[in-house]
Amino acid sequence: MKNLGILLSGRGSNFEAIADNVASGKLDANIAAVISNRADAGGIEAARRRGLKALVIPSKGKPREQHDREVVAALLEHRVDLVCLAGYMRLLSPWFVQQFPNRILNIHPALLPAFPGLEAQKQAFDYGVKVSGCTVHFVDADLDHGAILVQKVVPVLDSDDHHTLAARILEQEHIAYSEAIRMVLEGKYRIEGRRVVMKPQER
Ligand code: GRF
Repeated sequence: MKNLGILLSGRGSNFEAIADNVASGKLDANIAAVISNRADAGGIEAARRRGLKALVIPSKGKPREQHDREVVAALLEHRVDLVCLAGYMRLLSPWFVQQFPNRILNIHPALLPAFPGLEAQKQAFDYGVKVSGCTVHFVDADLDHGAILVQKVVPVLDSDDHHTLAARILEQEHIAYSEAIRMVLEGKYRIEGRRVVMKPQER
């Protein structure tokens, strides 16, 4: 069974959705480590409650590469096959990305390449788009940039504010992330440039 490593900085609802799918057998994987760069992340508390390996590796005041080296060491120590960024508020150094080629995923609460960066749901809402959604993609050294695995579309309603929109996007995030993890773990895809395409079904 493959080992997942989850990196997070905040409340950890995406992590919890993944953990629920692992616990119920919908996702055939093991969560080997949950790592936060912040001691006060709700997600790290949730990981402890679930009896998972929960590590805090503080980033404050450290050069990026030094922190990344500590995180990578922990991931290797716990034999992580696939790294899942779930609200991890740090840009990974190119060195980190090279340690796990096509083995790091991120989820972003907009339809990339629209609205990368912070507060994507508010950016989309303020722009006046009629649909937004979420994107699960491979991580490369650029922010919110790597090849796309899964996107889910969420309509923007006239009655929305950016909070209600964000809440409906989050529901789709919780579905999309496990789908993307399953795709990667099953290995039934190939990467053609920026395109991730499914291999034809074997008969
Ligand atoms: C999500 O909206 C995710 O798309 C973004 O950060 C947020 C994390 O939320 N990258 P949570 O900590 O998983 O609840």
